[in-house]
Amino acid sequence: MSCIRKFSPPAKPFLIKHKFIPSGRIILAGDKSIAHRALILSALSSGKTILKNFPIHDDSLATLNALSVLGVKILRKKGLVSVKGCGMQGLKTSNQPIFVNNSGTTLRLLLGVLAGMDFKTKVVTGKYLSARPMSRVNVPLRLMGAQITARIKANQEYAPIVIKGGNLKGIVYHAKIASAQVKSAILLAGLFAKGKTQVLERLSTRDHTERMLKIFGANIVVNNNSITLNPNQGLVSPGEIYIPGDISSAAFFIVLATIIPKAKIIIEHSSLNPSRSGIINVLKRMQAKIKVVVFKADKPVNFEPRGDLTISSSKLKGTVVLPREIPSLVDELPILMVAACFAQGRTIIKGVGELRVKETDRINSMVVNLRKMGADIRVNKVGLVENIVIQGQGRLCGSELKSFGDHRTAMSMVVAALAAEGESRLDDISCVSKSFPGFLKTLKSLE
Ligand code: S3P
Repeated sequence: MSCIRKFSPPAKPFLIKHKFIPSGRIILAGDKSIAHRALILSALSSGKTILKNFPIHDDSLATLNALSVLGVKILRKKGLVSVKGCGMQGLKTSNQPIFVNNSGTTLRLLLGVLAGMDFKTKVVTGKYLSARPMSRVNVPLRLMGAQITARIKANQEYAPIVIKGGNLKGIVYHAKIASAQVKSAILLAGLFAKGKTQVLERLSTRDHTERMLKIFGANIVVNNNSITLNPNQGLVSPGEIYIPGDISSAAFFIVLATIIPKAKIIIEHSSLNPSRSGIINVLKRMQAKIKVVVFKADKPVNFEPRGDLTISSSKLKGTVVLPREIPSLVDELPILMVAACFAQGRTIIKGVGELRVKETDRINSMVVNLRKMGADIRVNKVGLVENIVIQGQGRLCGSELKSFGDHRTAMSMVVAALAAEGESRLDDISCVSKSFPGFLKTLKSLE
């Protein structure tokens, strides 16, 4: 493959030509998924909760603002967020629509909470989220008794959404899609329901909601893929929650240090929840040198495991990723595709269909970009299952790249460009503010 490319000048280009050997230590802001849940359960509990290492980005602010509009008192002070819980019945009706920006987790979890409220709320979104499917959450919440109207197009529901809740009943829900957002919405609604609420998953998804519900005193029982929530007296704040570093943000640096020769970095205090750390398992299987030290539980045992990661440059080999592994690394698939391009041999990632309905169609965004960089990447469909097949060549070529407005596509392409031969240009990097506004600063600290 030849690395000679012609550039046409893009609108707001971000040039990636300065190559370096990453080395050093980083601590990342708290995990986005855990932060949403910590805010919501703190708001619904009695007592004050201090959230430490709270990440400030577009998505966490979306949840914070939504709860504030509903009357929750939340204060921000240097990495600390303090939430004055208003109890299960303390949320106030909002006269104005609640804007959740492009945060899918905010929208879906908030609908679970609003399903328990005996008032009507309109929720509006940014343009990327308004194109993402909502029936997956509206259907079970309606079964529980919520009244929901949404915009409908080709048999699918989309935001904006109007919801009137209250008087819910528990359901037994057999999840058709592996989605932690849907599971969490049902469990949050279950807090307000009469009788038990049960979610049965075919594939296990991230379990932050279950862990968080336990530390707030909910009556929840997890048995393999069955999660049962029984009614109880209400939630009680544990006082303080430390949010470990975001493993999804860490993933970009794990792959960066793996694919750049001579690199070595340490990531401290990373979340290491087994339902989220699939990227580490798969990269290790590809021969990545990643040393993991899990801290002994210093908080209630149900809370989130965390630890330090030491990552050294490695020669990767191709692997096969099975559908059952996908939920544990769903957000890391774009950066895993980059890693696979630098491996020797073939990587097959099976069952990636959910990537079509993320912030952008991430199968398309990654295939378009990686092909421009000379990658041998294709998509095949076996029945209803979509797979990605990458024939690793141990290298990529710099090129003109596009973020498609998607934070994880943008960060994956910066990592690919830093490891590629020649220079690259990314059309727009501002979208990283969704989950990781400090991405470039953190990258620079490793120079
Ligand atoms: C999330 C669940 C996942 C993930 C998203 C965050 C969560 O979405 O992709 O970034 O915090 O529950 P799905 O539930 O749609 O798989």
